[in-house]
Amino acid sequence: MYTLEELRSIAFQCHACPLAESRTRVVFGEGNPEAKIMFVGEGPGYYEDQQGRPFVGRAGQLLDKMLAAIELSRQDVYIANVVKCRPPDNRNPLQEEIDLCIKFLRWQYKVIRPEIIVCLGAVASKTIIAPDFSITRERGKWFKKAGVWILPTYHPAALLRDPAKKRDSWEDLQSLQARYKELMS
Ligand code: URA
Repeated sequence: MYTLEELRSIAFQCHACPLAESRTRVVFGEGNPEAKIMFVGEGPGYYEDQQGRPFVGRAGQLLDKMLAAIELSRQDVYIANVVKCRPPDNRNPLQEEIDLCIKFLRWQYKVIRPEIIVCLGAVASKTIIAPDFSITRERGKWFKKAGVWILPTYHPAALLRDPAKKRDSWEDLQSLQARYKELMS
C-alpha cells in the first residue's frame, strides 16, 4: 500500500503514455485525505496543467461555488481526475490513456476510502460506472459499487457551456448534500 505522497511522486515520474510528453505538470489531485466525498473530473485543462492543481480554471471556480452551495469547501473533499496529464487542446482522453492512468485513481480511492464518489461528466461516469453510461439520461441517479455510493452529474464545464443544465445540477447537489448528511449522522 502506498501513501498519497508516494503515489504522487510515482505519477510525477510517469511516462507511460504520450500525454507525458506534452504536459507541463502532472495534476495528481488534492484535498482532504480523510474526505468522505471524492470528486472525479476528466483531466487537466490549460490552467491545471500550468499550475499542477485540479480544477483551478473557470470550471474549477464553478466547482468551488457548487461546493459552497452545499456548505462544503475544498478542505472537506478530495478532487482528482481520470487522467493526470492534460490531453492536447483539451480533447477527451483516449481510452488507451485512461487505461494506462486509471491505476492512480484506483490507488487514490484505496487510500482515501471515500463513502461517496461524484463523477463529474461523461468521461468519469463511463470510466467509473459503466462504459455505456449516458450522462443525459442517467445523471442524478445513485449507484452503489463495492460499498461506495456513486453520483454522476454534469461536469461544471458543461454547465458553463449550457446554463440550462444548472437546474438539474442543483438537484444533484441537493441529493449529494442529503446523502452526505445522512452518512455523517
Ligand atoms: N476539467 C476537469 O475535468 N478537470 C480539471 O482538473 C479541470 C477541468
